[in-house]
Amino acid sequence: ISEIARVKNLNRLQIGKHEVEAWYFSPYPKEYAHLPILYICEFCLSFYPSSFMLLRHRSKCNLLHPPGNEIYRDDDISFFEVDGRRQLTWCRNLSLISKCFLDHKTLYYDVQPFMYYIMTQRDSHGCHIIGYFSKEKESSENYNVACILTLPQHQRHGYGKLLIEFSYELSKKEGKLGSPEKPLSDLGLLGYRAYWAETILELLKNEEELSIDEIAQKTSITHADIMNTCTTLQLIKHFKGAHVICLTESVLEQHEKSIAKRKRKIKPENLQWRPPV
Ligand code: COA
Ligand code: NA
Repeated sequence: ISEIARVKNLNRLQIGKHEVEAWYFSPYPKEYAHLPILYICEFCLSFYPSSFMLLRHRSKCNLLHPPGNEIYRDDDISFFEVDGRRQLTWCRNLSLISKCFLDHKTLYYDVQPFMYYIMTQRDSHGCHIIGYFSKEKESSENYNVACILTLPQHQRHGYGKLLIEFSYELSKKEGKLGSPEKPLSDLGLLGYRAYWAETILELLKNEEELSIDEIAQKTSITHADIMNTCTTLQLIKHFKGAHVICLTESVLEQHEKSIAKRKRKIKPENLQWRPPV
């Protein structure tokens, strides 16, 4: 793709009752690329050049939730598992939306090797997408997330952490450690750092004598990500020739503040899922 074609094309997207500004270039067909607003059906994710055409579509569209199995429900939050091979169009449409908010990813059409985990909020009209992550069906590097996105209208409400937490619950069910695909975006890194710190500190708070390996086994976070988090938080001390993790008052205080803000947690017992074979 030439430099010209990479310039941000779309201006705004209307998704359900929200209108959001696109951040980056996304390869929508060129007839759609330069419209002031692109109208998206929030259930089937197909796109239209006018509100009239979207309305006409809405009168025919029967979808009220993502096209897959509901594998988790807690209160008004549901997760659906969507297979990129079976739901090619839906997943490509999701990738087109995601690309509007991701600068560094290049794959939009190669959806078949991925499963998609869609977080929705349920009301009397249906299950409305808040965010999602994709996951390679087989990752040689043990990545447990490929792309992760909270739609901009829902960002900074803790949903990113919820998505990340969910991805590690899947890894626990698989009996594996996992890590997100690199490179992470700046926002992705901030979200992961916050999740890793919160999860590790929550464990250390209750059981001080934990090794890196024990933390890994309990959380499915990789040794490298644990080491990195503890180093960033300056928790690694050298003691008699060994590395030990030492909690500090200020880190704990910060942690208690962030836990107090946390509105939702994933309930592992609500996850109805076995690794796809
Ligand atoms: N500025 C500073 N810190 C931020 C931030 C921002 N704009 N957005 C997130 N964070 C940090 C904060 O520490 C936050 O915790 P806090 O609110 O308790 O301080 C933490 O990340 C998690 O925030 P949360 O509300 O759970 O995340 P989110 O729903 O906003 O989603 C992303 C986070 C990364 C999924 C979202 O920013 C996103 O979709 N970005 C675009 C796509 C992308 O870059 N994906 C990752 C690469 S594949
Ligand atoms: Na994404």
